[in-house]
Amino acid sequence: MFERILVAVDGSDHSMRAVVAAKDLAQKSNGEVRVVHVHEREFPAVRGAVGTAETPAQAGRLVERYVKELEAGGVSTSGDARASGLGGAAREILHSAEEFDAGLVIMGTRGLSDFAGLLLGSVAHKVIHHARCPVMVVR
Ligand SMILES: Nc1ncnc2c1ncn2[C@@H]1O[C@H](COP(=O)(O)OP(=O)(O)OP(=O)(O)O)[C@@H](O)[C@H]1O
Ligand SMILES: [Mg+2]
Repeated sequence: MFERILVAVDGSDHSMRAVVAAKDLAQKSNGEVRVVHVHEREFPAVRGAVGTAETPAQAGRLVERYVKELEAGGVSTSGDARASGLGGAAREILHSAEEFDAGLVIMGTRGLSDFAGLLLGSVAHKVIHHARCPVMVVR
């Protein structure tokens, strides 16, 4: 069940902890990991409200960094950097999970946003709500 693990990263410390959990679990189950990062495009009209100033190249390098981290731990790993469509990051994470045929999705409870008091970020919330496989949220 946990032999194909999708881990979602946004560059936050939370998602780094999700990568550590994915590595640990994959090592124990002799599993395979895919790292997904959704590049959230910035819309000029709402600059600062959504998205980041991240370029597609930076998104690719972010994924690459985590792929190397997992491979250094002896885990067979692939990467998936993709652009956000209308459904936002959550929808792309769900698509990536389907494509990879993931048995488990691992993500952080929170991400890059800075709202004090929020228990669970909106991306994590949507993925838990719609995923067809178990979702582990790491804090
Ligand atoms: N763009 C993304 N690509 C891949 N994974 C993501 C992305 N954004 C968030 N995640 C995953 O979801 C987890 C929770 O982040 P989320 O975005 O839900 O919380 P937040 O940033 O604190 O709040 P919000 O974005 O709702 O304002 C992250 O730790 C990461 O695992
Ligand atoms: Mg976020």
